[in-house]
Amino acid sequence: MSKKRDRRSAASSTRRDNRIEQSTRRDDSASDRKLVTIFILFFIVAPVISVIVYRFRFSSPSYPKESYVYQRGLVTTDANYQDVLTENSKVSENTSQRSYTYPVLGYITTWNSRGYEMAKRFNSKFTHLSPVWYDLKSQQASLVLEGRHNADKRWISELRMAGKALILPRVVLEALPVELLTKKKQRNKAINLIVTECKEMGYDGIVLESWSRWSAYGILHDPSMRNLALQFIKQLGQALHSVVSEKNHKQQLQLVYVIGPPSSQNLQQHDFGPKDLETLSEAVDGFSLMTYDFSNPQNPGPNAPLKWIQFILHLLLGSSGNSAQSLTGKILLGINYYGNDFSLSRDSGGGTILGRDYLALLEKHRPELQWDKNSGEHFFFYTDDNDIKHAVFYPSLKSISLRLEEARSWGCGISIWEIGQGLDYFFDLL
Ligand SMILES: *[C@@H]1O[C@H](CO)[C@@H](O)[C@H](O)[C@H]1NC(C)=O
Repeated sequence: MSKKRDRRSAASSTRRDNRIEQSTRRDDSASDRKLVTIFILFFIVAPVISVIVYRFRFSSPSYPKESYVYQRGLVTTDANYQDVLTENSKVSENTSQRSYTYPVLGYITTWNSRGYEMAKRFNSKFTHLSPVWYDLKSQQASLVLEGRHNADKRWISELRMAGKALILPRVVLEALPVELLTKKKQRNKAINLIVTECKEMGYDGIVLESWSRWSAYGILHDPSMRNLALQFIKQLGQALHSVVSEKNHKQQLQLVYVIGPPSSQNLQQHDFGPKDLETLSEAVDGFSLMTYDFSNPQNPGPNAPLKWIQFILHLLLGSSGNSAQSLTGKILLGINYYGNDFSLSRDSGGGTILGRDYLALLEKHRPELQWDKNSGEHFFFYTDDNDIKHAVFYPSLKSISLRLEEARSWGCGISIWEIGQGLDYFFDLL
């Protein structure tokens, strides 16, 4: 924003100065010439220098903007539905080129097969791919790891051929937490199940989701249980790190851990906070931070307001002192590739929409896309066949690019939920 303003004012003062120069040229007096020099210095040289300094300071660490979507001028607040409809499937010719140099994790779900295709097509854009396949469950007095039937071996070998992205299936810890965390035998069993599955299937590690479950069970309010929970994650990380992957150049298996945003302005006992981040920094290779789902049908609005994202990053990283550098690189800022279609009637409703739903809505309603400056998101309104007004929030090239820039300014990676839900040209930003 301010960059644009800078350039505009520099250009207009240059124009103004040209006029002044012409009108004074006829005059020969020395003092006038001095005045002209001062004018030139003041109105041309200074703005030019300031623009150069500005570009050097603020743009050069930014990413190369030669990808298709930038060349076509599509990364703009001033977007329109026609451009989205005609351009959404077009990307740069070379899909191997990465623009985002920090870690990029992409989730793939079994219920949306498009993600499997995208993972192959844009493999080089990712450092980590996480198919959502496994649940670790209690079964009588023991534990089982369910989900092998989801694992698609042919797809895995195709991914290995397509690029270097690590494959870390997600495991959700559904097992009864008190049993699991207080009994040493159960903890060891859980870890053994996970490590064995990685070895047998040739994975590069796992993404673990458990904090939200533990929070739902209410065990994180108890300080000793909370501590056991952290110890369990540590133990799992150490166990994974002690195994080297055969498939992947003898690298250690990795653990990525899913964390949610704090539940309120002030950190609660059950929230995952900066201290937890430090406690786990050795054992965990990445923290997949779920910075989306800010709004819901009861409170329609943007999915991931930029200021909220900034607040969360400050909360987690702002006060972590010397170790912050190594920690920020492990944060994978969550970016949603899905949107929401909220109905604004009294009995509010609506919910998630995917790329294809969004395109269908644009085609049918030809809406005016609006830019919400506060949240940094595009949205539009439409009225359905029952005369009910809807508000649709779906990511745009501009909204995603702002979040990438935010993550980059911290030195964070990103995680995308989920790669089958977006439009093809979103991948051109990565
Ligand atoms: C595509 O980009 C990659 C990474 O920059 C490069 O190594 C490769 O040679 C490029 N391929 C083509 C066909 O230009």
